[in-house]
Amino acid sequence: MAACCYSTGMLILAIESSCDETAVAVVGPGDELRERIKAHVVRGQMEVHADYAGVVPELAARAHGSILKPLIEASLKQAHVAPQELDAIAATTGPGLMGGLLVGAMMGKTLAMAWRKPFLGINHLEGHILTPRLSHTVPYPYLALLTSGGHCLFVLVKSLGDYQVLGQTRDDAAGEAFDKVAKLLDLGFPGGPAVEKAAQGGNHEAFDFPRPLINQAGCDLSFAGLKTAVRNCLEKQDIITERLRTDIAASAQAAIGDTLAARARHAMAFAKNVMPSLNQFVVVGGVAANLSVRAKLEAACARGGYGFTAPPLNLCTDNAAMIGWAALERAQRCESHGMDSAIQPRWPLENLR
Ligand code: KG4
Ligand code: ZN
Repeated sequence: MAACCYSTGMLILAIESSCDETAVAVVGPGDELRERIKAHVVRGQMEVHADYAGVVPELAARAHGSILKPLIEASLKQAHVAPQELDAIAATTGPGLMGGLLVGAMMGKTLAMAWRKPFLGINHLEGHILTPRLSHTVPYPYLALLTSGGHCLFVLVKSLGDYQVLGQTRDDAAGEAFDKVAKLLDLGFPGGPAVEKAAQGGNHEAFDFPRPLINQAGCDLSFAGLKTAVRNCLEKQDIITERLRTDIAASAQAAIGDTLAARARHAMAFAKNVMPSLNQFVVVGGVAANLSVRAKLEAACARGGYGFTAPPLNLCTDNAAMIGWAALERAQRCESHGMDSAIQPRWPLENLR
């Protein structure tokens, strides 16, 4: 950590490139969300990976490399900010795909050197779990459910950098389950939004898909059984009608939402034992963009005596504003990271300080 090198304005340019979204944002302090996010651009890579079963790391890295510079220029323009007005450059340095992380971090470090600004390397998961503080000013401490494509975990957010993971998925993440169900139903990628859309016309009670661990102690989760149940269900059908697909989508979405809500109730009770004053619950990550999941978690919070916060939908899925916000919180405690700060494809939240 270096001596404090920031002005009070604290304008940060942030880059996110850990998976298949290239995102750039300019973030600063302010009383409201619209003052805090000065610029916010996100480019997906759907067409790049469309012919493959999932994200191809090498193609993802190349796509980040080709789009990043124009996105940075567009962000500065959107924010009406010149490079010399920035206080710091931040980039996601883990966890995620090595190639994409390298592209984003190298760009961030290069700009920091050229513009003589401090650089901050930010943990992607920390970006997600601090997002409710960007969107709603939620005070520490709180209980977070981070539910995305690669992660599904309950974490006690005690203060900046002080995180206790209470439980996590033993196999697939909830977003991964949505993606696999979408694939089985031929709904396309990313699966979450596609399943949510298909589910709108379906009967969520048509199929009784598994809701693993819901009555067990602890805060772990499990979603791998869902894709097997959906596959078995499809194999039993003579013809796959549109109606059947929407019913399966609705039933699978209900199973994921019920499981997350039931496990959240356990996590709330468990967390209150660790920290009796705790009364705030937040949900973050791509699956938090699902309105049915959000509603079930909100109901669980009402029953468990917790306040409920979920960020706006465009701050649930991967974005750079969350990286900028985490950097801002770290900059506010005079933190900066050197040009030699490491890229960490694996970087557990509990290793942060
Ligand atoms: O947080 P995120 O953008 O990237 C990761 O860090 O993984 O999350 C992406 C995941 C994908 O699995 C995607 O299918 C899921 O979040 N997702 C959704 C919705 N939007 C994105 N799942 C359910 N409903 C949605 N509306
Ligand atoms: Zn993410």
